[in-house]
Amino acid sequence: MKPIRLKQVFSRDEIKRRVAEMGREIGKALTPDERPLAVVVLQGAFVFAADLLRQLPEELGIEVGFLRCDSYGMGTKSSGRVVLLQDLDARLDLHDRTVLLIDDIMDTGLTLDYLVKHLESRGAGRIRTCVLLERKNPDGETTSAPKFVGFKVGDGFFVGYGLDYGDRYRNLPDLSVLEEETQGHG
Ligand code: IMP
Ligand code: MG
Repeated sequence: MKPIRLKQVFSRDEIKRRVAEMGREIGKALTPDERPLAVVVLQGAFVFAADLLRQLPEELGIEVGFLRCDSYGMGTKSSGRVVLLQDLDARLDLHDRTVLLIDDIMDTGLTLDYLVKHLESRGAGRIRTCVLLERKNPDGETTSAPKFVGFKVGDGFFVGYGLDYGDRYRNLPDLSVLEEETQGHG
C-alpha cells in the first residue's frame, strides 16, 4: 500500500463557525410542537452531531437517537449496497414527529435515500436531512437533496471530524482529503 498523506480542506475553526450557523438555521426551522427527534447516523456523524446538537436551542426539546449504517466497508468507494447494522431503538414512536437525520457526508445519496425510506416505514411524520458535507457527484443518481448542508465539496476522500478511512482518522479535529504519494514507479 502506498503511503498516505492528508491535505487539509476545512480547519477546525471554519468547521466550528459553519456548524454554529447550521445550528441557528435548524433552530429556526424546527419547532417544539413537532417533537423533533435527531437521528444520528453512526459512525461517521458522531463528532458533527455532538457539536451541532449542542448549538440547538434548549426550548426545542430535541431528543436524540442513533442508528448505524455502512456502505463503504474499508474502502473509498460505495459498495452500492447499504447495510443497516444497528436500528434505532424499537421503542421509539416516530408518528407525527419530525426527524432530523444527521449524517457526515452525502456522496451517491444511497445511504440517505435508504434511511429516509426506512424512517418513513417506521412512521416518521416529516424527515429533514442534514449533512456536514455534500459531494457533487458527476455520475451519481442522487434523488433526495439534503435539506441542511455544511459545505459542498468536490472530489477527494475526506477524513477527520468523524469521517474515516478504514476506521482511522475519525479523531482528527480538521477535515482533510487523502492524498496518495506518487513516488517512483508508483
Ligand atoms: P453514499 O451512500 O454514497 O451517499 O455515502 C454516504 C456514506 O459513505 C457516508 O455515511 C459516509 O460514511 C461514507 N462516505 C462517503 N464519502 C466519504 C468520504 O469522503 N469520507 C469518508 N466517508 C465517506
Ligand atoms: Mg457513514
